[in-house]
Amino acid sequence: MVDPKIMIPHWPQWDKEDVNIVKEVLESGKWWAGSPTGHSGENFWLFQKEFADFCEVRHAFAVTNGTHALEIALLVLDIGMGDEVIVPDMTFFASASSVISTNAVPIFAEIREDTFNIDENKIESLITERTKAIIVVHLGGMPAEMDVICEIAKKHNLGVIEDCAHSHGSRYKGKRLGTWGDIGTFSFQASKVLTSGEGGAVITNDDELAEKIYSIIDCGRKEGKHSYDHYNYGSNYRLSELNAALLRSQLKKFPVQHIKRNENARYLLQKLNEIDGIACQKRDEAVQECANYVFPFKFNPEKFGEMSVTEFYTYLNSMGIPSDDSYPPLHGLKCFKQMYLRKGIDYSNANWGGIKSNNNNFPVTSLVSSQLVELPQEVLLADKTLMDYIVKVIRELRESFSS
Ligand SMILES: Cc1ncc(COP(=O)(O)O)c(C=O)c1O
Repeated sequence: MVDPKIMIPHWPQWDKEDVNIVKEVLESGKWWAGSPTGHSGENFWLFQKEFADFCEVRHAFAVTNGTHALEIALLVLDIGMGDEVIVPDMTFFASASSVISTNAVPIFAEIREDTFNIDENKIESLITERTKAIIVVHLGGMPAEMDVICEIAKKHNLGVIEDCAHSHGSRYKGKRLGTWGDIGTFSFQASKVLTSGEGGAVITNDDELAEKIYSIIDCGRKEGKHSYDHYNYGSNYRLSELNAALLRSQLKKFPVQHIKRNENARYLLQKLNEIDGIACQKRDEAVQECANYVFPFKFNPEKFGEMSVTEFYTYLNSMGIPSDDSYPPLHGLKCFKQMYLRKGIDYSNANWGGIKSNNNNFPVTSLVSSQLVELPQEVLLADKTLMDYIVKVIRELRESFSS
């Protein structure tokens, strides 16, 4: 069992400042944002500005959640009816369900064995005349090969959406993640490194896209126009003032947490990689900051007595180390074994459905996912003694199989 002196921090973390700001909003009776020209609460507008500064981007919009943020991004890029969008095969369901929601067709791409992100070398073979965009996910905040991916997109005139649900604060080759592609999307759901329980954001440097994003989020309105004039087909994706207030005070605490996570993640990566049979997610030298939403590593079952991934993380849990498996490949989810998810959409080009959903069609992703264990971000907020304890437990487990 974990040494009782080693504390595993709880998540989310809050203090008086968070309580006070939410209380102030409650007591003000201004529980929603209002419009750009007629503010109700101020926190929503200030958070958008502060989050844009944090992301080093021109425009940030606060929305209901990360799934909606993806849907908005797709709608803004004019993706719909039968269009194809390339999505990594190993990510959370929302990266693909958002594509289905907009009546488009997700096409799954294999991931890389080392970074566990979309394999940039497998993208071009998936492009057809129907392909309109690529959704890139930076697993655990570790950047995908954005320069190569953006080149491919440019060559084929495709949009790039960065799903940054895991990537708050990640920086690659000098640029924040979310600013490499056309649009970046974020989630502030409870487990995320910046959270208000639920919430999301959409960011862009493109002024024209920003105008469209605003309109889609706010019922098709236009900034400065009468509120019953609706110029586009939009919806209500606005974040509440209470969530925005909480996000503002959480954002203030982020830098200290972020530094701690980065320090511990670098240390753990180096130490765990010294164990024969363990391979941590590759961190390129050009990754200056990583959100470390999760800390993923692969174990080689041959070196660990043919343990399954479930046996591996269950053992860690039994030793007091919170851990889990990673996402199952999307192609194998029950919904993607069916061919027809939305009425009237032509799914004949899909590389999933029926026998196409077979693991043999996605060998790398299937193998990686069967060997991938993740530590949640709060582990990285702990004292260094916890990192040493994790290394010790995994090393001793490995040694138990080495005779
Ligand atoms: C990669 C990824 N994309 C999108 C989402 C969706 O975010 P939300 O839960 O805020 O809708 C998540 C949530 O976990 C995620 O992990």
